[in-house]
Amino acid sequence: MDKDLEAVLHPNVAAKSHSEVGSSRDSPKTPAARSAPSTLQKSLVIGACVATSTVIGGLLIPFVSPGFRRIALPYVPATDSQVKLVASILTRRTPGSRVVDLGSGDGRLVMAAAQKGFNSTGVEMNWWLVLWSRWRSYSLGLSKLTQFIRQDLYKCDLKSYDVIILFGVSGMMETIKKKLAVEMKSDSLFVACRFPLPSATPLEQLGAGIDSVWVYRKSDVIGGFRSN
Ligand SMILES: *[C@@H]1O[C@H](CO)[C@@H](O)[C@H](O)[C@H]1NC(C)=O
Repeated sequence: MDKDLEAVLHPNVAAKSHSEVGSSRDSPKTPAARSAPSTLQKSLVIGACVATSTVIGGLLIPFVSPGFRRIALPYVPATDSQVKLVASILTRRTPGSRVVDLGSGDGRLVMAAAQKGFNSTGVEMNWWLVLWSRWRSYSLGLSKLTQFIRQDLYKCDLKSYDVIILFGVSGMMETIKKKLAVEMKSDSLFVACRFPLPSATPLEQLGAGIDSVWVYRKSDVIGGFRSN
């Protein structure tokens, strides 16, 4: 994998070593203390764990709150393998084409697309994730090719995009299918990650299990209504 894609996929290496420093500081210093922890020590440790997870939970709230109102789209970052699959699909369109990621989360797919020269837009309801993505994109020198918009993805006009990407949840796919049938350009591609469009035959399916990615042309989306 190239170094740039690596930076998009693993931005938190520094944060990890920080937490390791914290845990070594908390370990008991004498062998006696390690072999026979008192009840008080045990309750202190349990208390510290509860406090720590409460604090971490609080920090994560902006990252797990619903991405939009109609159906809550949880923030689950794309896996490395999903990012690579989507990046490989993009190579079928010429750089400069416009890519949109609906519910862009931390923006990693948008940035991976920008690294391949695509003019990429992320649509995300959660302001924290929009701000994070803009900052991250700027720090990777990708801000000229990326836009992050805070918007309900159902309200995003899909007409101007050549590739439309969605990491969806099953309950929203029918609504999205109707939207695509109306708004998608005839030569655009729709890339569904995690869940396929209901009763539509994809052009192809890549990957397996939770990393599956389905690719549709507009004709495949419309064909899905005829077969109903
Ligand atoms: C990318 O697309 C946006 C339209 O959303 C446009 O304003 C911008 O100029 C484009 N950027 C490039 C580098 O083509």
